[in-house]
Amino acid sequence: MHDLDLLSRYAIPGQLRFRATPAGLAFADIDNPAGTASVCLQGAHLTTFRPKSQPEPVVWLSDAARLLPGKSIRGGVPVCWPWFGAHPSDSRLPAHGFARTVPWDVIDSGASAGVTHITLQLRPTAATRAQWPHDTPLTLRISVGDTLDMALTTRNASAGALPLSEALHTYFQVGDVAQVELLGLDGCTYLDKTEAFARRQQHGAVRFSGETDRVYVGTHSECVIHDPLLQRRIRIAKQGSASTVVWTPWEDKAAAMGDFTAHGWRQMVCVESANAADDSLVLQPGQTHTLQVRYSAEAL
Ligand code: BG6
Repeated sequence: MHDLDLLSRYAIPGQLRFRATPAGLAFADIDNPAGTASVCLQGAHLTTFRPKSQPEPVVWLSDAARLLPGKSIRGGVPVCWPWFGAHPSDSRLPAHGFARTVPWDVIDSGASAGVTHITLQLRPTAATRAQWPHDTPLTLRISVGDTLDMALTTRNASAGALPLSEALHTYFQVGDVAQVELLGLDGCTYLDKTEAFARRQQHGAVRFSGETDRVYVGTHSECVIHDPLLQRRIRIAKQGSASTVVWTPWEDKAAAMGDFTAHGWRQMVCVESANAADDSLVLQPGQTHTLQVRYSAEAL
C-alpha cells in the first residue's frame, strides 16, 4: 500500500497528483499543456498517454483491464524485468519477471520546458528476493510532454556478473491492427514464437493477419506504425535496446486471455523495445545499463 500523504511531497500543483483506487492501487496522474498520462505505482506501469496534439491516446489500455493488487495490467507499458518471457530455467516463475506486479516507490519528480517527469524505483521484498536474490537497483524515469520518454536503468550492485533480459512492453493504440503497417524492421532476423522460435527474415513492412509473436534481434533503429484509419504515424525510437518484440494476439487468443473486450484486440499492437533472446545482457559488477524509448505521433 502507498501512503498518499507521503507521496504528496512529489506532487506538482497543476501537473502531477496522486490518487488511490478503491482496490488499493496508487496512481500518479500527469496533465500538462502538452500531454496527459497515468502511472500505476504497482509495476511503475504507465497505463495511458495522450499528447494533446492527438485526439486519440497513443498508448492503449484494455477496456477490460483488471487494476488489482498483484495482477499484471493488460495494456499500457508493462515493465518486463529481470527476465523477458519465460524464466530461462524455472518454469514456476512468472512470465516477464516480477517488476510489473510489485509496488515501486516514487523517488523524484519535476517539471521543466513543458515536460513533467516522475522517477520510480522498484521496492525489493522478501517475495522478489526469493525470485531474484541479487542487489540490482532498478529505476524508471517517465517524462511526459508532446512525446513520452522512458528510461529503465538497472545497476548491478552485487559481487557477480548477472544475466538480464527486459522489455518496455508497450501497447500502442491503432485504428485496426489489420490495416496498419510497421516499418523499420525490413531485412531483420526474427524468432517466431508461434512456430517454436523458428528463425526467419523480415521482408518489407510487417503486416498483421493473425496471431503474431516475434522477437526481432539485432535491431536498434526506429520503428514507425503507419495507421491509415487514425491518419497518423507513431514513431518508436530507442537506445540501449537491441531487440524489438512485435505481438498481437488476434481473436482467439485474446478471447482466451480474458482481459480483452470482444473487439479490443483490434485496437492495439505491441511494439516492445527489449533486450531478449540473442540480445540478453550480462551485467558485470558495478555496471549500469539503461534502456530508453521515445514515442511520438504525427498526422499522415
Ligand atoms: C509478448 C510475448 O511480449 O507478451 C507473448 O511475446 C505474450 O508471448 C505477450 O503472450 C503477453 O504476455 P502477458 O504475460 O502480458 O500475457
